[in-house]
Amino acid sequence: MKTIKELMEWRFACKQFDEQKKIPENVLKDILETARLSPSAYGLQAWKFIVVTDAEVKAKLAPVCYNQLQITQSAALIVCCIRTDVMGENGVVEKYSNLSGREQNKSEEEVAKFKERLNGTMKMMGDDGVKVWLQKQIYIPAESMILAAAEQGIDSCPMEGFEAAGVAKVLELPEYLIPTILVPLGYRNMEQPKKIRFGMDEVVEWR
Ligand SMILES: Cc1cc2nc3c(=O)[nH]c(=O)nc-3n(C[C@H](O)[C@H](O)[C@H](O)COP(=O)(O)O)c2cc1C
Repeated sequence: MKTIKELMEWRFACKQFDEQKKIPENVLKDILETARLSPSAYGLQAWKFIVVTDAEVKAKLAPVCYNQLQITQSAALIVCCIRTDVMGENGVVEKYSNLSGREQNKSEEEVAKFKERLNGTMKMMGDDGVKVWLQKQIYIPAESMILAAAEQGIDSCPMEGFEAAGVAKVLELPEYLIPTILVPLGYRNMEQPKKIRFGMDEVVEWR
């Protein structure tokens, strides 16, 4: 079993996948489980992970992803979306607060206070602020999946090179879902290039 450090050394931004090799469904589900378990601000989990394995859908996505090979060659393309339907009666705040109330036996008053606090925070941030806030968080499950995939010998590539509106249109997403980062998964069909990283002294400062 590899350590996280070893997995980080093994993984790289894979540009070409072996199109013939598929990922077993149970393995894919285990990878997705690490996304589900990832931390989020207030525990809100305002995200959705769309798993695209259908070759036709991937082909339709390619042009809105600058025809990057990973889109069509990957065994599974995970489209990580933020959910902007956070406020309101059916919003994520409402849903999450009620769920945590039930699961952690919170009093009604406690749940109500939590909702009020969260809705107040969102109002203060405004729509654009909330969007940025949610987009910062979704990179956590994206990285969780990258590492979980590496643990299974599966390659990946975090990708921001796509047109969000185009991806949303192809996938017929509701307006409240915004594709933010793509994680194609598959098996490398190329050699791993030498990793280029600044030295420890450049990126870490001890005080
Ligand atoms: C937020 C983000 C967006 C990226 N977008 C793309 C992309 O659209 N296409 C691509 O081929 N690589 C993309 N990459 C991969 C980076 O180019 C790659 O991680 C970086 O060059 C370091 O190489 P390594 O991951 O192989 O160590 C992206 C990486 C990150 C973190």
